[in-house]
Amino acid sequence: MLMPPRLRKTALTLHISTSLGWLGAVASFLAVAVAGLTTTDPDRGHALYLSADLIAWAVIVPLALASFTTGVIQSLGTAWGLIRHWWVIAKIALTIPATGLLLLHTGPIGQLADPASTAAVATGHLHGLQVQMVADAVAAALVLLAATALAVFKPRGMTAYGFRRSRPAATAAVTPMAASTTAG
Ligand code: HEM
Repeated sequence: MLMPPRLRKTALTLHISTSLGWLGAVASFLAVAVAGLTTTDPDRGHALYLSADLIAWAVIVPLALASFTTGVIQSLGTAWGLIRHWWVIAKIALTIPATGLLLLHTGPIGQLADPASTAAVATGHLHGLQVQMVADAVAAALVLLAATALAVFKPRGMTAYGFRRSRPAATAAVTPMAASTTAG
């Protein structure tokens, strides 16, 4: 069902705010993860990973879920549809794995933030995990930038389903004729 213009703009405002808020939160996570990787002070390292854990749970996860939900509403409530245009499908294909990986990686973030890990972090025993936090944040930022570019440029290209849905009258007119020519 198509949304009336005012509702569509309200929903779009929510979608853009949550989506780009997600990107901004990933940027702050990246800054904290880089600081955590480079510090030699165990207390500072612990404080940084506590902040990373908080940013992940209190900001990134809610914004990711809100961006996904508002994106689906925006698709279903407008002529863009969910599976009519390749750029919308590409956004879904980027966003679902990104959200899944994010939820999966909250475990390692919690491990780094655990007070019991402070010494292991300081002695470099969790270096691999620390590097992974930085790499994950860079990858997430790139995925979200790609989703933003897709939304703004909206590259042309319809799926077969979208093409059929956009021409219901033409399909209805052609189908009986095609049927009658092939029937005889
Ligand atoms: C499942 C995920 C998503 C879906 C299905 C989706 C779908 C859509 C749709 C259909 C529109 C057009 C709305 C309209 O014209 O009324 C839109 C706009 C937009 N989306 Fe998404 N989106 C998703 C995720 C994201 C993400 C992750 C980002 C960026 C981080 C993003 C950024 C934007 C922006 C900036 C616009 C506004 C573009 C404009 O009006 O020119 N979206 N989205």
